Amino acid sequence: MKKRNIIIDCDPGIDDIVALCFAFANEENFNILGITTVAGNQTIEKVTDNATGLMSFLNKDIKIAKGVSRPLVREKKPASGVHGENGVGDYQFPHTKEIYSDNAITFLRDTIMASEEKVTLVPVGPLTNLALLIKTFPEVMEKIELLSIMGGSTDGGNVTPSAEFNVWADPEAARIVFDSKLSIVMSGLNVTHSTGLYREDVDHLLKSSGKITKMCGEILNFYFKGDHVKEGTFTPIHDACAIMYLVHPELYKFRHMDVVVDCSEGMNRGNTVADVRDWINYDETYPKVLVDVEMEKFREILLENLYKLDEVYK
Ligand code: BDR
Ligand code: CA
Repeated sequence: MKKRNIIIDCDPGIDDIVALCFAFANEENFNILGITTVAGNQTIEKVTDNATGLMSFLNKDIKIAKGVSRPLVREKKPASGVHGENGVGDYQFPHTKEIYSDNAITFLRDTIMASEEKVTLVPVGPLTNLALLIKTFPEVMEKIELLSIMGGSTDGGNVTPSAEFNVWADPEAARIVFDSKLSIVMSGLNVTHSTGLYREDVDHLLKSSGKITKMCGEILNFYFKGDHVKEGTFTPIHDACAIMYLVHPELYKFRHMDVVVDCSEGMNRGNTVADVRDWINYDETYPKVLVDVEMEKFREILLENLYKLDEVYK
């Protein structure tokens, strides 16, 4: 597989941290040009601290650029109930590394424009940075290969009955991105509710003596303390789905569909209205919406990669 240039735009976030580790386990497939942060699961200060904290924990040097501190229009509401007050289930990362830039939008522009090959962006938080990027610097659009987005849903939400958190958090930004005609792969809740680990898997991680797996076990264990985990037997790791698609697209079924983001107030805020009618044929200019995943293979590959990373970072 040809190495793909990627930038991960995230709001760490428990599942964001696991997704980042999964990406680090696949560096033979990726040139990771940077990580940008965006306010979402927690404040921009906390999610950026968690991104630099992970780099400090691994003693790894990937450029981190701090992004936008609030949605384009709406009030900011962190997801403390799911990710904890510090955003990573109270896990304490060391803090030896600093951010590279305090402006994710110019960092994205400069990095994308300087890259010889096109760049794939992996947004796994609210789409605020991305919306500002394409509106402020539309010249980047020609150099974006793909957006592999974790966000939205074709059939019901998590933060409300109709909306997924990342899109709900900044629906106006999501609308700009989904309307951009950029090439999009959407990992929505309709698949990410099946991309994760069982309680027993997390128990194994917790008992591990490996640096990465133990840390992942500790942060994922926090998910089971909330009431959003179905019967306490399985936890989705939503954001890893957007990375997994890039490495193992064969695990998924997809259909191209029109996706329109509802920016109204009330119960429909942030709903991604996806045209699931299978007798309508949308061409490849419409988002590629993932509709099914091989759940057990996803789980096996994710675990295998996390344990593999233990061999790299001691
Ligand atoms: C998404 O919302 C966040 O809480 C997670 O990190 C993920 O990106 C799932 O709805
Ligand atoms: Ca996230």
